[in-house]
Amino acid sequence: MFRLSDLTPPRALVCKTPTDPLASMQCQLLLGNVQGQQSHVYKSSISGVGDVLVKVLKPNLRPLKEYDDVVSMEVSLRQSGVPVAELLSYHEWVDFGVTQNAIIYRFYSGGDLFTQILRLHQSKSICAQRTEFIAYSMAKMLCTCLATLHTNGWIHADIKPENIFLSHDIESDSCQAYLGDFGNAVRIGTSINPFSTGTPAYFPKQDFRNFNGPAHPSVDIYCVGKLLLVFDRHVHKMSPHAESVIGRLIRHNANERPTAEEMLSTHLPEWFLHIDSHARTT
Ligand SMILES: Nc1ncnc2c1ncn2[C@@H]1O[C@H](COP(=O)(O)OP(=O)(O)O)[C@@H](O)[C@H]1O
Ligand SMILES: [Mg+2]
Repeated sequence: MFRLSDLTPPRALVCKTPTDPLASMQCQLLLGNVQGQQSHVYKSSISGVGDVLVKVLKPNLRPLKEYDDVVSMEVSLRQSGVPVAELLSYHEWVDFGVTQNAIIYRFYSGGDLFTQILRLHQSKSICAQRTEFIAYSMAKMLCTCLATLHTNGWIHADIKPENIFLSHDIESDSCQAYLGDFGNAVRIGTSINPFSTGTPAYFPKQDFRNFNGPAHPSVDIYCVGKLLLVFDRHVHKMSPHAESVIGRLIRHNANERPTAEEMLSTHLPEWFLHIDSHARTT
């Protein structure tokens, strides 16, 4: 069970660059349905780094000052070796009297997991066992991120396929997945409104009896379960064992959901043993 006494708040120093990155870089607006709700995203490249993603935050959605804390938390997660998207620089400038923020990340050429799942759904190019191994790998990556994030006193609050970025196409053996988009992240215990936080299809509104309630790690765990259900429903039906793991994650009663640590120590290793050995490549 998660204890408040486990918290060790991090503090990574992130310098803010006082300029609009778009003013000095050749950028291309990302097309299709990848434009997020909280930002405009552009692809560019930096010599010596390679392709980058420039995320310009839409002003007024959240006090921009709060991003200072979020950015510093993202950097400290990455510094502890957790698979989160690599943040390269943070910008704040004033445009016609309006303060604007942008964040530059490494660009992951596999795009986001939603787009990859959509492709798998249409092509049916992988078998059920391989689908289950990929779903297991996503759960492991997410629980690895969440175990540290929760211990550091935060919840992500918007875990969904659109916020997971991939280094390669998902079928590739070299594919690495990273958790991104911490734009909704809040400190554990912060009062949140279930109707304006996260994404309705993934968020456990039932955890909040009133319109507001304290943010708790079990919210993220529920979202991981909902994300795994997307593989089960839209790519291939998974084994009874996988479905029982998902069932635990999306328990209606938040107190009955496992923690990220419990997933890593018990439920994920058990699930791994049930996956066909030919479907595992790593
Ligand atoms: N580092 C990245 N590499 C590749 N694609 C990315 C990256 N960051 C974001 N994207 C794409 O841009 C979309 C929006 O970015 P995101 O950080 O989720 O912003 P928002 O808060 O607006 O949802 C993502 O769903 C994804 O398709
Ligand atoms: Mg997003």
